[in-house]
Amino acid sequence: MKLLIIGASGVLGSRLCNDAVKKKWDVLGTYCSHEYEGLSYLDLRDKNSIAEVFNFFKPETVVLAGGITDVDLCESKPGLAKEVNVDGTFNILKDIRSRGARLVYVSTDYIFDGKSGPYGEDDKPYPVNVYGRTKLEAEGLVKNAMKDYLIVRTAQIYGADPLSRNFCTKIINNMRNNKKVYAAEDFYCTPTYAGQLSASIIKLLEEKKKGIFNSAGSDFINRYEYVNKISDIFGLHKELIQKVKLSDLNLKAKRPRLSGLKVDKLEQETGVSVYGCDEGLKMFKEDIEL
Ligand SMILES: NC(=O)c1ccc[n+]([C@@H]2O[C@H](COP(=O)([O-])OP(=O)(O)OC[C@H]3O[C@@H](n4cnc5c(N)ncnc54)[C@H](OP(=O)(O)O)[C@@H]3O)[C@@H](O)[C@H]2O)c1
Repeated sequence: MKLLIIGASGVLGSRLCNDAVKKKWDVLGTYCSHEYEGLSYLDLRDKNSIAEVFNFFKPETVVLAGGITDVDLCESKPGLAKEVNVDGTFNILKDIRSRGARLVYVSTDYIFDGKSGPYGEDDKPYPVNVYGRTKLEAEGLVKNAMKDYLIVRTAQIYGADPLSRNFCTKIINNMRNNKKVYAAEDFYCTPTYAGQLSASIIKLLEEKKKGIFNSAGSDFINRYEYVNKISDIFGLHKELIQKVKLSDLNLKAKRPRLSGLKVDKLEQETGVSVYGCDEGLKMFKEDIEL
């Protein structure tokens, strides 16, 4: 399998890169602004950089795990969010189609409005922020352009993250530095261990699955419960955790309050094991302590 991973300097992409290499697949990963040894440069906004990577590597399968993932940044810079997440997806579709390659597009539970999560694959999307709208628009482009597309939706990823971009890593770093952390008791999700997500993408590829699959953790919990679990597993001081309401956080982008994803389809059709936070956070801790 010749696998190109766009966004291999990110949390999911870097994990998937390592896991696919362990399977002896021929893998090339890309970075955009954070260079890592062994990764090639690709900016989804730059058609020349896309052509260069595709012509050099000639991928059979492409996983698009890159883009602007900072929800508040998308809200303050909607032009940038569209340029990368929507136009960037469009930019790779031509090369993928002309080579007859497969595409795995990684999407999000933020395409839903958060009134009645966790969501199944067939629930009706209705994004409430710019990030969610760009991801839904990109899903639409993928569906229109490809017959055998695979869209893998996920939620609240945690995993090894040297740049401290994801929520879980920020919480750990802040608490280790004795800073208070604020956790909303009315904001629910299904946190997802990057190792489980990566394993499920590999399984879906091996089984040549098509269509939409959710891959997320099995716990539907609020941020206050989640931060307490992080604190338990990482041995952090709980007095630093401040229970708040989502509205107290004054976040730039509106959040889907009852978000998260159901994973029955993934479990039934692939037999992938789905973990809760206790198990996933323990594995994450082992990963970063190796
Ligand atoms: N994080 C979550 O909780 C979450 C939840 C649901 C769905 N998702 C989806 O899951 C996927 C992976 O998320 P993640 O958290 O692993 O991402 P991440 O850690 O934030 O990393 C983002 C990746 O995208 C790359 N990237 C950014 N701008 C780019 C551009 N213009 N061209 C090409 N690559 C670019 C980054 O490269 P550089 O760093 O080198 O610039 C990095 O490799 C994304 O599609 C995201 O929408 C994430």
